[in-house]
Amino acid sequence: MKILFVGDIVGRPGRACAKQVLSEMRSKHNYDLTIANAENAAGGNGLTSQVCRELFDMGLDVLTLGNHAWDKKEIFQFIDNEPGLVRPLNYPPEVPGQGMVVVHTAKAPVAVINACGRVFNPTLLECPFRALERAIHSVRKETNHIIVDFHAEATSEKVAMGWFLDGKVSAVLGTHTHVQTADDRILPGGTAYITDAGMTGPRDSVIGISTDLVLKRFLSQLPVRFEVARGATQFCAVEIEIDDDTGHAVSIRRIFRVQESLITKKS
Ligand SMILES: [Fe+2]
Ligand SMILES: [Fe+2]
Repeated sequence: MKILFVGDIVGRPGRACAKQVLSEMRSKHNYDLTIANAENAAGGNGLTSQVCRELFDMGLDVLTLGNHAWDKKEIFQFIDNEPGLVRPLNYPPEVPGQGMVVVHTAKAPVAVINACGRVFNPTLLECPFRALERAIHSVRKETNHIIVDFHAEATSEKVAMGWFLDGKVSAVLGTHTHVQTADDRILPGGTAYITDAGMTGPRDSVIGISTDLVLKRFLSQLPVRFEVARGATQFCAVEIEIDDDTGHAVSIRRIFRVQESLITKKS
């Protein structure tokens, strides 16, 4: 089976880019499942119900989140009503939403799990290694097709997670840094791995945000209100092929495309 995983979609430019590239790619490739990280999809931070709907309407099957999951407060109103929406599983048990979803594709059920790293992340989360180990142990009774979006800052924590889950899941795909890494590979146990899938959003920016504003903050050390940048966009994703029987990854391919500006309106 073939799965497409799209890196963090940032704001309106990222959504416009994703919509255009996804429609082209889906006509060429017959994906069994498409997943995207949507933690920055609404105005650069968080997710609204309208944006959530827009992303599902462009054909995405599962949306994962991250540390920005809660930035738009309205998510608390709809997170439990969206079966394809997954937030990091290592939050405390009373936090709404789900950390894992099992999608019944035509070929096999596929579990999609989201977890946040703890290195350089100020929130007090449960150990992602132990939380993922427990979730994988329980879901493997149902399927051996398991995709993990590991949303983390530190390269070391992500690489360590790849090795920790090698042979236990089909793929460990990093998100959060918004910069695509060139280390996509199949680990010896059959797990597809990349440290970061990258960002789908404004190309001439600082990880999606207007360069001027970010520089102003770095140089002045004062609070600056961030805005999503405009102009040309980039589409970042990975395409993974998984053996239908074993659940092991057969291939992983990085996708990086630059699109001309599709919109002029503010994000
Ligand atoms: Fe992000
Ligand atoms: Fe993030």
